[in-house]
Amino acid sequence: MEAARSDRRIPSPPLADVPESRPTPLSATERRAFILANTRLQRPPHTPELQLHLADEITPIWRLTEEALAEIGVPPPFWAFAWAGGQALARYVLDHPQVVRGQRVLDFAAGSGLVGVAAMKAGASHGLCADIDDFCAAAIALNAEVNAVRVAFTAENLLDAPPPDVDVILAGDISYENPLAGRVRAWLAEAHARGVMVLMGDPRRSYFSTQGLRPLAEYEVQTTRELEDFAVKRTGVWTFG
Ligand SMILES: C[S@@+](CC[C@H](N)C(=O)[O-])C[C@H]1O[C@@H](n2cnc3c(N)ncnc32)[C@H](O)[C@@H]1O
Repeated sequence: MEAARSDRRIPSPPLADVPESRPTPLSATERRAFILANTRLQRPPHTPELQLHLADEITPIWRLTEEALAEIGVPPPFWAFAWAGGQALARYVLDHPQVVRGQRVLDFAAGSGLVGVAAMKAGASHGLCADIDDFCAAAIALNAEVNAVRVAFTAENLLDAPPPDVDVILAGDISYENPLAGRVRAWLAEAHARGVMVLMGDPRRSYFSTQGLRPLAEYEVQTTRELEDFAVKRTGVWTFG
């Protein structure tokens, strides 16, 4: 997968490298089948109480290049990994259920849906996962199912409008490239100004700024050297103020 500056192993965003002659998009059923065939159920090291359909060195998707995936209509599979920022944020929510209990929660840039699933496990009244990669719809549905929770999904780019009417926004590992990181931060600041509780989980990626943020927790999150520069990433959870 392509690198992004000092976050060497973070892949480029979905659709960035899709060739001009795109293959026919996979149907929802085909996406679900692809995920089941190319991942295995695993417990992320930092949130072992959750199970997710993830890729690792013994799943076939691990060996496919970005080009090979694009040829079969699969954008870079962010959803196949539990990123350090998401793992930290999910851990925080599971350990501090009062933050989300009875609240309407948005998991922004949800990927596998790890954070949204954690919020539902912690007692959120409603969970909406948002990710611009359509593949996440299938991955998140499977991951919600296996953890016996329900979450809604939208592939709409929520950054194009004011933040939605929710009580809490959780954003895991969204500062891996610019201008996305800056755009998300401004949007989250707008949500905060409207009274929404905003929590971010991030292993201090290149474009993550702590300016205006208050640290809530710090974790040593086990990841994989296939994706990251270190096998263990120091990862924080922050809020505004
Ligand atoms: C590094 S992954 C993090 C996934 C998950 N939060 C986690 O921590 O495991 C970043 C995700 O951001 C998503 N993304 C990028 N731009 C987005 C946007 N404008 N709206 C929603 N999701 C976006 C990507 O598709 C990808 O799934």
